[in-house]
Amino acid sequence: GAASLSAVIDLDVPGPVISRHLYGHFAEHLGHCIYGGFWVGEDSDVPNEGGIRKDVVDALRALDIPNLRWPGGCFADEYHWMDGIGPREERPRMVNTHWGDVEENNHFGTHEFLALCELLGTEPYVSANVGSGSVRETSDWVEYLNREGDSPMARLRAENGRSEPWGVSFFGIGNEPWGCGGNLRAEQYAPMARQHATYARDHGENRLYRIAAGASDADYSWTETLMKQVASGLGDRNPRGIFQAVSFHYYTMSGAWGDKGSATDFSGDEYWTTVRRAQHVRELIAGHSAVMDAYDPTKKLGLALDEWGTWWNVEPGTNPGFLYQQNTMRDALVAAIHFDAFHDHADRLRLANIAQTVNVLQAMVLTDGNQMVRTPTYHVFEMNKDHHDARALAVHPLGGSPTREVDGVDIPTLSTSASTKDGRVTISLTNLDLAAEARVELSLRGARIGAVSGRILSASDVADHNTAEAPDAVSPQQYSAVRVDDELLTMDVPPGSFVTLKLETA
Ligand code: AHR
Repeated sequence: GAASLSAVIDLDVPGPVISRHLYGHFAEHLGHCIYGGFWVGEDSDVPNEGGIRKDVVDALRALDIPNLRWPGGCFADEYHWMDGIGPREERPRMVNTHWGDVEENNHFGTHEFLALCELLGTEPYVSANVGSGSVRETSDWVEYLNREGDSPMARLRAENGRSEPWGVSFFGIGNEPWGCGGNLRAEQYAPMARQHATYARDHGENRLYRIAAGASDADYSWTETLMKQVASGLGDRNPRGIFQAVSFHYYTMSGAWGDKGSATDFSGDEYWTTVRRAQHVRELIAGHSAVMDAYDPTKKLGLALDEWGTWWNVEPGTNPGFLYQQNTMRDALVAAIHFDAFHDHADRLRLANIAQTVNVLQAMVLTDGNQMVRTPTYHVFEMNKDHHDARALAVHPLGGSPTREVDGVDIPTLSTSASTKDGRVTISLTNLDLAAEARVELSLRGARIGAVSGRILSASDVADHNTAEAPDAVSPQQYSAVRVDDELLTMDVPPGSFVTLKLETA
């Protein structure tokens, strides 16, 4: 039959670099993300390295996680970092008021987090406490993290067993200040953030990448207020500016905030609403970018989507404050949609963090006692790895591409993106239609095509997911249905599936 999509990719016209940091992660002191997820403690029966779970680290290492955001989220703005250093048994305790109202023993603190980052081979992204912390705490924390030689905080760090500084670069200035981070108005937050950012110093050769806490969803006026404040810092005396990025957050759900929808038990209509809302991220990135362009036309500042992903009702019977949810093929498709949008906006979008890596919201892995399961979303991150730091390639449709009416709007049912690095091209294709195959014809111009290989993530039902009993129910398989005829690639992408192709070029 007729192709669903015919498109041209000019292999010799590479676009902006897709920062690997668009594949970043997020670990908050929330439910079982840290405690039970990353951290079991040194005395646990679960195999661990210095208290950190080995199975989780091994699984995540295969994703080449570029950065990990910590300690929150909402938790960041009630976290006092000095409570989390020194001998564990002597650390003060606190109540985690946002997440389950449970006691936090502070056993996982700065040293444990940075040890985790070293095991994962990832860059830390530390979020400071602006909501209830002081400028001095922020300043001391950065000194503790990054100062070499002899100084009060460097000495304290050495007393706690670490003489070398860690050299943290990504540094968040609070979190969701419009809500849990202080219920501030943008006009209040902006000067506070300038103050915290000023005293978050660069020590030695280290350069901080300061990220101002941004808007929720389509709150463009928040971004505008921040940009007005930030742009004035981009002067001659301080060419790097006060901030290096502005963030925003966007979550996908099928229902309303009070009843977000079930992770596993959803109707066809709920599926399509989910798809439509996931695709909305593209409009949001473009919208925030447009506001930034007005104040920073040369794109010095990055946009950081430092929380994204699906947010469903918690699994029945679990603590509502722990945000524990299952993860199906639908979640995998949501992730694939986001990455296509990220790749297309790589000129401004420099960092993104899925919420959250283990046991919370759209997780990569779910743990239960000493068992661990990789989710369908995990596999999308793994299959898309070759886009890290590759240059984006535009996919130009010839004529139309397939659409469907959802909630009164026409939305695309096929999502694509492509990139190139070191002579290798990676193409991602997502067929969102659950009933029909998508015939795709790609005309690849500007280079000769060599070996082609493919993998596919699919499921017989879009609600399929992985469990301890069936850990690989949804997992990638070889995909060899690609026909190559000179410069033309033709393939049928099965319903509700995600495909990645690797092409050698010459
Ligand atoms: O990721 C869960 C929560 O969502 C974060 O703590 C907060 O920043 C957001 O509202």
